[in-house]
Amino acid sequence: MVFNRKITVIFFVGLFLVLGIAATKPPEEHKFQNLKVLPKNISKEDLDKVMDGFKEALGVKCGFCHAPSKDTSNHHPDFASDEKPEKNIARKMMKMSAKINKKYFSYNKNEQGEFVPAVECMTCHRGTAHPGGPKK
Ligand code: HEC
Ligand code: HEC
Repeated sequence: MVFNRKITVIFFVGLFLVLGIAATKPPEEHKFQNLKVLPKNISKEDLDKVMDGFKEALGVKCGFCHAPSKDTSNHHPDFASDEKPEKNIARKMMKMSAKINKKYFSYNKNEQGEFVPAVECMTCHRGTAHPGGPKK
């Protein structure tokens, strides 16, 4: 009996310790839910830079790739949703650009010797969503 009670006490002390640590832990590190190409732990600042770059390169607004929120009281798009096909096309374009840079432009480095992508969205798009040839 005494032995059991001791175990019970140890168990609860342990449980409170675990819960206490969990309660004082800083908020979750990653805030983005559906990143498949970008690093999952990307900072908000870096993600914003990437998204602003897309917007500028294609000459569009965020809603060109991001579907509207299902909650109509929310005027922001549902950024995690993959409902708009343009978002997945953009993912393919990101992979394509990375491949081209890796395969053909690996020599492209800055003064510090760091790799710099030679081909970006802007290289082809130049402010339009449809930089393609005859297909309309
Ligand atoms: C050309 C298409 C395109 C445009 C324009 C665009 N985005 Fe995105 N966005 C994407 C893609 C693709 C992803 C997912 C990237 C991945 O899978 O790694 C994404 C992901 C995001 C996410 C992360 C969502 C999550 O939780 O997973 C946020 C937030 C976001 N975009 C905000 C914006 C904002 C704000 C703008 C306008 C300034 C914008 N985007 C413009 C294509 C776009
Ligand atoms: C090597 C050239 C090239 C690069 C680099 C490039 N794109 Fe494209 N992109 C195209 C072409 C060509 C099309 C097809 C245009 C069309 O359908 O009229 C296209 C189409 C798209 C579309 C579909 C537009 C639509 O309305 O159907 C999206 C979205 C897109 N690109 C996003 C991006 C993003 C984001 C990047 C950078 C990560 C990028 N692209 C880099 C050439 C490029």
